[in-house]
Amino acid sequence: MDNPFADLDAFVDNTADARLADYLDLLRLPSIGAQSEHTADVHATAEFVAERFEKMGFEHVEVAPTGGHPMVYADWLHAPGAPTVLVYAHYDVQPVDPLDLWTRPPFDPVVENGRVWARGAADDKSHVHLHLWAAKAWLETRGKLPVNLKIVMEGEEESGSEHFDRWIVANRDKLKADFALISDTGFYEGNKPAITVGLRGLVYMQIDVTGSKVDLHSGSFGGNVQNPANALATIIAKLKNDDGSVAVPHFYDEWRALTPREREEFARMPLDEAAVTREHGLHSIWGESDYSFLERRGARPTLDVNGIWGGYQGEGSKTIIPAHAHAKVSCRLVADMDPHKTFERVRDYVASIAPVGVDVTVSKINDGMWSLTPIDHPATQAAAACLKDVFGEAPYFLREGGSIPAGATFTRELGLTVVLLGFTQPDDAAHAPNESMRLDNLEGGLRTLVRYWQKLADTPL
Ligand code: BES
Ligand code: ZN
Repeated sequence: MDNPFADLDAFVDNTADARLADYLDLLRLPSIGAQSEHTADVHATAEFVAERFEKMGFEHVEVAPTGGHPMVYADWLHAPGAPTVLVYAHYDVQPVDPLDLWTRPPFDPVVENGRVWARGAADDKSHVHLHLWAAKAWLETRGKLPVNLKIVMEGEEESGSEHFDRWIVANRDKLKADFALISDTGFYEGNKPAITVGLRGLVYMQIDVTGSKVDLHSGSFGGNVQNPANALATIIAKLKNDDGSVAVPHFYDEWRALTPREREEFARMPLDEAAVTREHGLHSIWGESDYSFLERRGARPTLDVNGIWGGYQGEGSKTIIPAHAHAKVSCRLVADMDPHKTFERVRDYVASIAPVGVDVTVSKINDGMWSLTPIDHPATQAAAACLKDVFGEAPYFLREGGSIPAGATFTRELGLTVVLLGFTQPDDAAHAPNESMRLDNLEGGLRTLVRYWQKLADTPL
């Protein structure tokens, strides 16, 4: 049979060099949303994206102020009768430290071994770029898109989408759509095509412990004051039980138990634990023994220390009682847990176990809601069909462990079903040194999106 996408596939083939060059330009912009020294870079990245949508013929293009990093909005609404898709990706990236572990500079992208190496190459500039080029492929070859697109791309996803919800609510009327497509996820272990149907929520906190105005001589004061670093260690040690569960009272009260059917679905997924251990350089896989690896990742909540500091960390010794000590602590949350309630429970529990002789505060830095999306929705099934067409294998449906606050927001505030379609490979080293994106996933992703727009036009939603 003739390939109905021959012209679009030819566009993909013929633009390989131009696409790569444009993607590398996007990766050179250090859009680290969490760090204020990069505010101008984040803004420049929003402009970069907006400019390209405008140039290819999108309308109402805006780099919209939000009170935080800007939202990029653009629409193309000239497919009467066809579905309207709200398309989401994020153009901010994670901080790059520890910088000395990068074998190539994080914002000077290099192509090597079939991958592009740079911060954000996968998470999430791969998808920002794919959406730019999927639309461009249609507009340049056929002069139109088969569906209506409303693009929203944010710059605060990696720091909790702080201003996102408010912007969505304030722009509710112009964001009407048939469903939302979020591109910020990827493939299953072994680089198998997958569609994510569950994301965990998050609450991110900081614990600050203070004992004195400045560091004290540990000879003069050791034994006569509470040491903030010791006190912090005492607190942290009481947050979890030896079996891996969280010790905070009432932490699991709203946790939705897995049904036998859900457990069967988890059990059906193949997982080579030895391969995961090897591929990610793990000491070993460890967690609550009543649940499998995939259940723990997709359907159990967590509490983890993300960073801990205080006192002397330089060369040699320095005999002090540190004035203060700190930890960043986050919880991943699943159905039906509430981020703010979880924060309050952690805060109150920490207050109840805080050793005497120090001040202890727990503050919330950000949070995001978990989400579950329906596998049987026609837009999900259409995505699955396109993945199969391009990658040759039907996708797995995954409950992932990461968080994308936008997912729950689209459903809660706009009443939209969310489809999560993304193409990153599991060993992308997102959030870590030496992040990378496979070029073949990128190219397959582009062909998939190009087909998806047509498939949606042909599918009753
Ligand atoms: N792309 C990830 C989300 C993700 C990670 C999905 C792993 C599936 C698997 C996203 O950019 C991310 O990292 N989000 C943050 C959100 C947080 C700051 C609210 C996360 O999960 O840590
Ligand atoms: Zn991301």
